[in-house]
Amino acid sequence: MKNEQHDIFHCELMVVTGKGGVGKTTIAAALGQAASQAGRETLICEVSGQRRVPSLLGHPTAGAPGTEEQVAPNLWTTTIDPELALVEWAGRLIRPRALLDLAVRSNSFAGFINAAPGGRELLTITKAAELSRDERWDQDAAGYELVILDAPASGHGLAMLRTPTTFAEIARVGPIANQAREVEALLADSERSQIVLVSTLEETPVNETIELQDALTSQLGRGADLIVANDFISDDLGQPEIDQLSAAGSELSGAATTAILTRHHRSQLQQGQLTRLRGAADCPLVVLPAIASHAIGPDELEQLTALLATELRLLS
Ligand SMILES: Nc1ncnc2c1ncn2[C@@H]1O[C@H](COP(=O)(O)OP(=O)(O)O)[C@@H](O)[C@H]1O
Ligand SMILES: [Mg+2]
Repeated sequence: MKNEQHDIFHCELMVVTGKGGVGKTTIAAALGQAASQAGRETLICEVSGQRRVPSLLGHPTAGAPGTEEQVAPNLWTTTIDPELALVEWAGRLIRPRALLDLAVRSNSFAGFINAAPGGRELLTITKAAELSRDERWDQDAAGYELVILDAPASGHGLAMLRTPTTFAEIARVGPIANQAREVEALLADSERSQIVLVSTLEETPVNETIELQDALTSQLGRGADLIVANDFISDDLGQPEIDQLSAAGSELSGAATTAILTRHHRSQLQQGQLTRLRGAADCPLVVLPAIASHAIGPDELEQLTALLATELRLLS
């Protein structure tokens, strides 16, 4: 029953992208928390050596790269390391084991990754897909019901999503082509994979979000599935209070008045950008508030998760 309220979580892979600094990692963590609370066995994957999600979820950071770490009921985190992913993938193809060890020691894997443009991105998205498969590369491991990828920012995120097609075309036949086609099929199927775009409500991020949505459609043959408008000022004063404050401005501390009026001005700009983003969005959009705190920790994340879960329920 619970799961039906969160249709968006009924996919294998959820890719979170958007402009740098808009809250991708925060939203990926909130999505993961919401999905796990809705009963999905969820793994949140960071990339490029990042490992911020465990502490956001109140878990002391530990675990070597590539390890999957449980942080809450139904919720795991990991960081994808492309070199480890390549060794693991090749380990199934290269026999005997001594030959694989030799290839690893001779650095030919690192050479491959660094030589092929998009090689790291291909391995990252392939590993993310693998983590959700029932049959994992490691035969003793079980797949997750849902994998949430905290992907690279906009253009790099899109490039990553395109690598399976590119490599399948170049390799044409053989194990790389087959593997790439499998991931390509997953990414082409919006029942099996979901793309979430995070944006803040300022001119540049909104432009970038709209461009990214359109680029997904033209270059990947599918649009985004959800836009999260993050960091929205939801507690702005009304116009009567602002007028009163402006009139009484000189009697109050100048700095305090300026701060409130600046916030009000930003809030009005956000309203305009929200209208623009809603008008351009080809998919559902949810709004999450700016949390008043100097940093987002586990308590603030819980707050965002609860609001996000409510918003997502209203969509379905
Ligand atoms: N809704 C929010 N309210 C307040 N601060 C936020 C919110 N979302 C994100 N942040 C803060 O904004 C900064 C950037 O967020 P982060 O998730 O790291 O972005 P990205 O992964 O896109 O670079 C962080 O300091 C984060 O704590
Ligand atoms: Mg991030």
